[in-house]
Amino acid sequence: MIKIKTVDAWEILDSRGRPTIAAALCLNDDTCAVVSIPSGASTGRAEAKELRDGEKRFRGLGCHQAVTNLRERIAAALRNESFDGQEALDARLLELDGTSDKSRLGANAILAVSLAFARASAARQHLELFEYFASLLPSPSPRLPELTINLFSGGKHAFGQVAIQDVLVLPRSGSSISANLAQMYDIYQEAAAIIRKRYAAPALTADEGGLAPPFAKSSEMLDTAAEAVNAAGYELGSEVALAIDAAASHFVTADGKYRLDDQILSPSDLIDTFYSWAERYPLVSVEDGLAEEDWNHWPVLRQKLGDRCLTLADDLTCTNPARIQQAIDTAAANALLLKVNQIGTLTEAKQAYLLARSAGWRVSISARSGETEDNWLADLAVGWGGDFIKIGSITQSERLAKYNRLLQIEHTRSLG
Ligand code: PGA
Ligand code: ZN
Repeated sequence: MIKIKTVDAWEILDSRGRPTIAAALCLNDDTCAVVSIPSGASTGRAEAKELRDGEKRFRGLGCHQAVTNLRERIAAALRNESFDGQEALDARLLELDGTSDKSRLGANAILAVSLAFARASAARQHLELFEYFASLLPSPSPRLPELTINLFSGGKHAFGQVAIQDVLVLPRSGSSISANLAQMYDIYQEAAAIIRKRYAAPALTADEGGLAPPFAKSSEMLDTAAEAVNAAGYELGSEVALAIDAAASHFVTADGKYRLDDQILSPSDLIDTFYSWAERYPLVSVEDGLAEEDWNHWPVLRQKLGDRCLTLADDLTCTNPARIQQAIDTAAANALLLKVNQIGTLTEAKQAYLLARSAGWRVSISARSGETEDNWLADLAVGWGGDFIKIGSITQSERLAKYNRLLQIEHTRSLG
């Protein structure tokens, strides 16, 4: 049994300068751990609810209430309590909250405790954090994930200059994380140079640290990514692949059409557009190609993309086992974007992961647009054997903390 001695929390700032939560948890043998929690902007409606103060301070985004819930209600309930592992702790957190969306105590407060307990438990057992995460699975197979790296941003992560939220690069010519990051650096530098020349200004960086020039239309993001790959001397397809996150929930119209830049498209026209992009470029995945409630058309998108590229669900499924089950039952997707704070405990995220795997889905373990310098995400992706990791660009220390942790794991362990 693992006995909790103290739980503490305080407000910190994320990569956008907005408040989020850090928590510290000590076990009775004085093993202590600190974690911090990310936060999204392009959020799905079915996500567990982060608690925000809604007061003048930080324009409503303060986390004092969530911190107070953690320091008073959660800490009081857990102090001197013993648990036989992560599942028991998470079950107790759910019981303390008592709502279906964690709106009473706050998903941010609950996740902070869930993850702090994980890190403290790993330390107590002298395990690397990724080994601890792996130990939570019935048949663990830790491995280094493939990198999906943000190059260009639009939508809610930039200034809305184009509808599509992200164009991502998958550097694949190296046989290591280290070699693939070096390749990505070349591509990023070429992209920045192209933009400087074309728009006569340095590209502003967006929330995830990617470039956000004033593209005229979304397809230009892909065209320019391909140009940057070529300029860096790599072959698109064999050495580098691309991916998009459309985040289409944020450009669906009230009558179920889609405002793609200056065009209004029917769902089937939008699906045809993605298909044409997947024909032109080596796209590995189309994430949130349709809106989160457009259940009727997701199976059409998946059918159309077929084996050519993955139909990746983020806002559609929100790391929520019930929604993932619905997506499996309706053949709406074949890959899951997993964000632990969309659901709020490690155990529920594990259920989401195992459910997706049971249906043969691929899994991408993802950061949020508001990140902290904590690096647990890298351990989670490795420990759970995610196919992909999505951290953001190769700028911003909050993102580099995760890439650098992958490099450390690669250096110290022989993981394939
Ligand atoms: P978010 O966006 O973290 O702002 O929700 C990330 C994504 O849509 O994948
Ligand atoms: Zn997304």
